[in-house]
Amino acid sequence: MARRLVEAGATVTLVDSLVPEYGGNRFNIQGLENRVRVNISDVRDPYSLRTHVTGQDVLFNLAGQTSHLDSMEDPFTDLEINCRAQLSILETCRKFNPGVRIVFASTRQIYGRPERLPVDERHPLRPVDVNGINKLAGEFYHRLYHDVYELPACALRLTNTYGPRMRIKDARQTFVGVWIRLLLEGKPFEVWGGQQLRDFTYVDDCVEALLLAAVRPQAAGQIFNLGGGEVTSLVDLARLLVEVNGGGQFVQREFPADRKRIDIGDYYADDALIRQTLGWQPHVSLRDGLKQTLDFFRTNLDHYR
Ligand SMILES: NC(=O)c1ccc[n+]([C@@H]2O[C@H](COP(=O)([O-])OP(=O)(O)OC[C@H]3O[C@@H](n4cnc5c(N)ncnc54)[C@H](O)[C@@H]3O)[C@@H](O)[C@H]2O)c1
Repeated sequence: MARRLVEAGATVTLVDSLVPEYGGNRFNIQGLENRVRVNISDVRDPYSLRTHVTGQDVLFNLAGQTSHLDSMEDPFTDLEINCRAQLSILETCRKFNPGVRIVFASTRQIYGRPERLPVDERHPLRPVDVNGINKLAGEFYHRLYHDVYELPACALRLTNTYGPRMRIKDARQTFVGVWIRLLLEGKPFEVWGGQQLRDFTYVDDCVEALLLAAVRPQAAGQIFNLGGGEVTSLVDLARLLVEVNGGGQFVQREFPADRKRIDIGDYYADDALIRQTLGWQPHVSLRDGLKQTLDFFRTNLDHYR
């Protein structure tokens, strides 16, 4: 996101806590160090938010605790970051910059186990984990602040997003990250279950959607699903990854019990609304996206382990 904004000539401030358990990585801004302002601070700290928000045209509200399992083991940290801090960000915007356009990264996790496929924005919301509930509250706060205070906020419900610079040292962001790391380390990776259907968004396509949501006035107050071009089962994804890598191995096994309890089964999005309203469409195929991701990490693996 920051790279794309800098290329477009924007003045960019990055706010990140860089807590080691989460996805922040200084190497991600290699080459950009002198072109962005970096502020190491935590969105749970309401006092620093005012400085960050004042005077900005756009706020890409992406900071979050992303691990579903962590949210079950430590629900209050997830609550603080994904729920309470979101309200505090919006309150700060309302008081000090009510015109700021806010794009919030919501998640398909809030739907829970789909009742029907593909899932459109009118599908019932029934999260299966604490993270889903807190992200849902975060999203609803954004909608509320639009409806009541006319803050130009919108939300994108992201699905599995992948690409260069993602977190691969563990599965806290997505299982795809661990698969990629193990593959590049020459180790077999595990596919749990395997028949689950999922859709994937390549990072550049996701960034494009976030940008469109920021610049198109018709996005304000809207909630959009973001999907991808292709739907695939996890076992087919694993096969494709091995093929694109030119080798590698995986093993299929039963879901671990703690994961099974919070698994959502099959999911893929109906993202017609964002396509029609903002003119978004994905440009990078799953095969090309995986290739670009593997190429990046092959060269830069040591910075992400
Ligand atoms: N990647 C996906 O597949 C996906 C899917 C659905 C939703 N999302 C949402 O997109 C957003 C971005 O996720 P990502 O995939 O880029 O993950 P990420 O972990 O790479 O990025 C999140 C960033 O937030 C920072 N952060 C965490 N807690 C913070 C805090 N308290 N204060 C300041 N910074 C903090 C982390 O250091 C990290 O850099 C998240 O809100 C996530 O819920 C991502």
